[in-house]
This record gives sequence, C-alpha cells and structure tokens, in this order.
Amino acid sequence: MEKTLDMKDLKAIKIELTRFMMAYKFALDEMTTKINILKDEFNYIHDYNPIEHVKTRLKSPESIFRKVQRKGLDFNLDTMKENIKDIAGIRITCSFISDIYEISSMIANQKDIRILEYKDYIKNPKPNGYQSLHMIVEIPIFMSDREELTCVEIQIRTIAMDFWASLEHKIYYKYNKAVPQKMLDELKTTAEMATMLDNKMENLHKEIKKMKLADEAEDMRLPIGIGNNKLKLLETFMEEKLGIK
Ligand code: GTP
Ligand code: MG
Repeated sequence: MEKTLDMKDLKAIKIELTRFMMAYKFALDEMTTKINILKDEFNYIHDYNPIEHVKTRLKSPESIFRKVQRKGLDFNLDTMKENIKDIAGIRITCSFISDIYEISSMIANQKDIRILEYKDYIKNPKPNGYQSLHMIVEIPIFMSDREELTCVEIQIRTIAMDFWASLEHKIYYKYNKAVPQKMLDELKTTAEMATMLDNKMENLHKEIKKMKLADEAEDMRLPIGIGNNKLKLLETFMEEKLGIK
C-alpha cells in the first residue's frame, strides 16, 4: 500500500530542504566575501575597480524541480546536488575583458576552491553570439556538524556582454517558436558590435595606462627633495590608512 505523507513527514522534508538550500546560501556569502577581497586588493594594486557589479541568486525550489524533471532525474537531494550545479549563481560584471581573466584566475588560484567546469564563451562564443566566462566551482562550507562541498556557478562578463545577454533573454523570453534566421543573424551582429566596443575600450585603457606609467617614471627622476616628499606621503598613507608605523 502506498504510504501517505503525514505532518511529521512534511516537517522532516521541510527541515531537510532548508538545510540543503542553506549550504548554497552560505556558499554565496563566502564567494561574495572572497570577491570583495579580490576587488579591494585589485583596486589597491592597479588603482581602479575592475568590478562594476556583482549579483548573486539562489535558484528557487520551483526552478530546481523543473530542472530535475527536464533532466529526468530522481527527486532526491543527493542526486540534485550531484547533477544541478547552478543552484547558487554569481554574476560578476567587469570593466574590461582582461579583468575577466584576471579575476577568474584569482578565484581559481585560491586553494579551497576547486574548478569543476570552465567554459570560455568569450574565446568561443555560442552560435547566437552569447559571450561570458563560465566556471562551476566547488567550495567547502563549514556547518555546525559537517563540512559540505558546495557548487557555485560563476559567470563573468563585461558590461557590453551583460547588456547583450540581458536584452537577448528579454527578447526571446517565453517565445517558443522558431525565430526567423534574419533576426538571428541581426542579433549575432549586435554581439559582434559589443565585442568591438569591448576591444576598443580595452585598447584605450591600455594606452592610458602606458601613458600614466611613463609619467610616473618621469616623476621618479625629479630632484631628491621632491622624492623625499613622496616618501613622506607614503609614510603618512601607511600610518593613516593601514595603521603601519
Ligand atoms: P544549463 O542547463 O542552463 O545550466 O545549461 P548548460 O549547463 O549548458 O550551461 P551554460 O554554461 O551553457 O549556460 C548556463 C547559463 O548561462 C544560463 O543559465 C544563462 O544564465 C547563461 N546563458 C547561456 N547561454 C545563454 C544565451 O544564449 N543567452 C543568454 N542571455 N544567457 C545565456
Ligand atoms: Mg549549467
């Protein structure tokens, strides 16, 4: 005879599901802290902020269940954990293409992070033109009674790539019929325009950086008195900002 669920069963399921989702929420919190640290450090070294914004999202239980059905999986938490790697998602929007690779390798080099999947849709865009760097990473989450290895999907892209992806999604959202080839081609052209924009911006950024470095090198050749002044400034900065005497 088929067993029906009583209140006690439902309560147990609810607790189990909450614990399951909590691990992903903690994973997002932990990754957010890591990204903030990288951002501040990068800002300090390179003198500009490489990250325009960071967005995190937890997949809703409904959307997890839909994916389970679509993939023909069992409704079992272990199976879901094993097969659905984008329950926790982070999207990092960077200023320049080179920032994407720098931030991604900074993440990949952390020793508690394991890269499970790395898809470079910037070097190899999707046929529709979509570009982004995707990584599935695994990080340990320490709970009161256990350590849980938890997956997080990280998408890193530029503002132009983000602009394209958001609007592409909006244009096609819930349109299930075939889109005419002409429109597909036009959309791909817009993706190529976004790439052109990114490349132009990156080149300008590099040129200015070179000019700034040349200026700084010039400054170093100034008379000793001015050099001493710089040293004084550095000392004040270290003392006031970093508390180092
Ligand atoms: P999923 O079952 O969606 O995880 O597919 P997948 O494992 O092949 O993942 P992939 O890394 O290709 O893409 C995952 C995510 O990237 C999607 O959920 C979207 O957020 C984003 N994405 C991928 N392709 C496109 C696209 O063509 N347009 C837009 N707007 N977003 C995309
Ligand atoms: Mg995926």
